[in-house]
Amino acid sequence: MVSDCPVITIDGPSGAGKGTISHLLASTLGWHFLDSGALYRVTGQACLLEGVDWADHDAVSRIARGLNIEFRTAESGEVLVAYKGVDVSREIRTESGGRGASTVAAIPSVRAALLLRQREFRRPPGLVADGRDMGTVVFADASLKLFLTASAAERARRRYKQLIAKGESVSLPRLLEDIEERDARDMQRSVSPLVPAEDAIVIDCSSSSIEQVFDLVMHEVKRKCLI
Ligand code: C5P
Repeated sequence: MVSDCPVITIDGPSGAGKGTISHLLASTLGWHFLDSGALYRVTGQACLLEGVDWADHDAVSRIARGLNIEFRTAESGEVLVAYKGVDVSREIRTESGGRGASTVAAIPSVRAALLLRQREFRRPPGLVADGRDMGTVVFADASLKLFLTASAAERARRRYKQLIAKGESVSLPRLLEDIEERDARDMQRSVSPLVPAEDAIVIDCSSSSIEQVFDLVMHEVKRKCLI
């Protein structure tokens, strides 16, 4: 780990716009990017592929410790994720991929197994880290900590629009239920629960566009002299 290398953490619940803002920020600054949720999603997916039950904590931890994962940027700019060399980008982004991720993410030994791996992403000129505990645990010494949030109803509506645009048939009440269940699991777990770091700047994105949120974020980045 290069500890004098700057890190900006972006935490918050799913669907608040963290992914879009983090990508945009990393590419604007020319910094590295860590999608920590992908590590948990691939762990959940690897269990399915290896026939490991998410409830078997020892076996899930073994999978996390030996996780053979690779990130690659396609020509389109899309970030692809491979497990054991096989592209699992689509599978991990499904609703069941999200459920698997939040189930395995509640296991303390899985979080411990993925901790160092996440810190390895900290390389010059800097890192933008997207997740739930980036500012509280993984990069507690980050230069700037942001916490993006939005109401569950608004996050469900956004997800609904995305899935409908992809041609998937989904139910809005079911999506809202899923989001509320996942929030509860993420906020109530014993290790690294989803909470803003004490020194995080909380941004409510419920009624703001991506452009408006990004302007606010860039204002904070400039205030901290990170650009
Ligand atoms: O960010 P994303 O929605 O891809 O994360 C999927 C799940 O992984 C989250 O709901 C959460 O349970 C878990 N996660 C976590 N800690 C992180 C990132 C993700 O517990 N730093």
